[in-house]
Amino acid sequence: MSTFAQQQSAPLLHSSTSSRFAGRPQSSRHATVESCEPLSRTSRALAAFGVMLAGVLLVLIIVSYTNQPLLMRTFGLDRANLHPSTSSHGGLSYQNYTSFPLLGTQYLHECAKQMSGFMSHGDYWDAPRHHGAPMDVDHANDPHNRICNSTITYLLDGKVGLAADLGLMAQAAALAQERNRTFFVDDTHWTRGKWTEYFEDVTSLQRGPEPGCLPPPPQEFVACPRTARHWVINSLTAKYHLGHSFEEHYEDPYGHQLNRKKPVFDMAQKSFASTIRPNEEMRTLIKIAKVEFLRKFPRESEQLEADKHTTLHRSYYSVHIRRGDRIPHGWMHHRKPIATQVYIDAIFQRLHKSDSLIQSSQSPVVYLASDSPPMLEQFAEAYNGTTFSLPGSKHSELNILASPQDYHQEMFDKLPLQARRKATKGALIDLALITGLWGGEQEPRLDSAVVSVSSNFGRLAAIGLGWEGAFGNVDEMGDIDNTRKKWIDVDLQGTELPVWQAFELF
Ligand SMILES: *[C@@H]1O[C@H](CO)[C@@H](O)[C@H](O)[C@H]1NC(C)=O
Ligand SMILES: *[C@@H]1O[C@H](CO)[C@@H](O)[C@H](O)[C@H]1NC(C)=O
Ligand SMILES: *[C@@H]1O[C@H](CO)[C@@H](O)[C@H](O)[C@H]1NC(C)=O
Ligand SMILES: *[C@@H]1O[C@H](CO)[C@@H](O)[C@H](O)[C@H]1NC(C)=O
Repeated sequence: MSTFAQQQSAPLLHSSTSSRFAGRPQSSRHATVESCEPLSRTSRALAAFGVMLAGVLLVLIIVSYTNQPLLMRTFGLDRANLHPSTSSHGGLSYQNYTSFPLLGTQYLHECAKQMSGFMSHGDYWDAPRHHGAPMDVDHANDPHNRICNSTITYLLDGKVGLAADLGLMAQAAALAQERNRTFFVDDTHWTRGKWTEYFEDVTSLQRGPEPGCLPPPPQEFVACPRTARHWVINSLTAKYHLGHSFEEHYEDPYGHQLNRKKPVFDMAQKSFASTIRPNEEMRTLIKIAKVEFLRKFPRESEQLEADKHTTLHRSYYSVHIRRGDRIPHGWMHHRKPIATQVYIDAIFQRLHKSDSLIQSSQSPVVYLASDSPPMLEQFAEAYNGTTFSLPGSKHSELNILASPQDYHQEMFDKLPLQARRKATKGALIDLALITGLWGGEQEPRLDSAVVSVSSNFGRLAAIGLGWEGAFGNVDEMGDIDNTRKKWIDVDLQGTELPVWQAFELF
């Protein structure tokens, strides 16, 4: 918002200056006096030149009406390299901006302008029209036909946490898949560096209907409506696309509570399986963390595993403790951070109910993650079982990636880029182990996740556990299965329905 306000300050200043002049008769009288002075020789020459110029322009105008191609050739223009005109067929123009892609806040502003103008009551994918044409900006000609016909781009800017962006991006990728549009990630403004520093290039994983086609020029991105040929979405504009109308269209209208959310859950799961995947460097780091973590497991379970008659795997619980700027949603926490003991109690409650492979006689091994370094120590001290977390790693390439401080968005934005990069890598390793995403049947296997639904790590943990793994046998009324669930939310603890949401809107 502030950026847009700054952009607007120039014209505002300008107009206020002119009105101040208008209100001062002295200066305007002075100007009048000046213009009444006899014309100097130069002025007369200039006037003559002006008349000539007007004549030339008149001829050009006539030519332009009668013989447009001639005019085009004369000035070396043809349609292909003409910039889109401001009076576009689709009625949209972002031409007043000078730098593309726009910032997330500027796209938000463009959506806000649209949405105040009309209310859409039609289908989610009905295209709002402008004088009969689908609302859009103009598109430059693509003489070689190499630009994708139709795209969805997720714009990363880092104004929200990593997991929050991923949760939203997963839906955008799924929508692109369903609509036969090519999916791109734009990281021009990303405060964490480049997407491919951490993840595989999405265009190589989700190739879309026109493999190898080129991304559109960012001048042609449109934030709203979503039916524009090159739709761009980011954490701020998501509320215009993944809110009520999205729920109406994509949730299961016959399902109750959790069951309503099943299709959206599936969309996220599919995207994390096929499109949003750590790159090779990150996979290696995740692997190193897992190998080191495995060595922490008590010997007893290793012996059991050696026994051919059991299919026992080395399984663990994950605990994610979000501090920093995130306030728990549950009324019972009174807006105060959730105490360590609440997480510990949740582990043993789950253990005693469980049909899990972990023996009840020993405390589960815990992979522990938190943005807050002191919380890791506090939990490890209070817990009577084995814990492992990044700062405790013996590998220097891992322990330097641990979260340096409680996550407050504005404080994070002020860290040097190198520190943000490290923290992002650390967060991604934590995310992999907390949620079980990208793990498959690999050991150690995530048994249960003790998290808070107010944190996006918590939301994604359900995706990693899978529908049945996370929620158990969800009944017809859409209630979570409290005996079998392995997704344990210590924040709302089931006091709000549905108990899980796929993503957060900002
Ligand atoms: C661009 O700026 C001009 C001058 O401020 C204004 O008249 C015009 O409406 C703007 N166009 C758009 C599409 O916002
Ligand atoms: C893309 O558009 C071109 C030209 O309109 C068309 O020939 C082509 O079939 C389209 N490709 C796809 C995959 O829709
Ligand atoms: C996407 O492509 C498939 C296969 O060509 C087609 O069946 C489907 O209708 C298309 N979907 C949309 C929304 O165009
Ligand atoms: C660990 O603590 C839990 C309760 O906090 C208790 O139920 C369990 O028996 C303890 N386990 C061991 C091995 O001390």
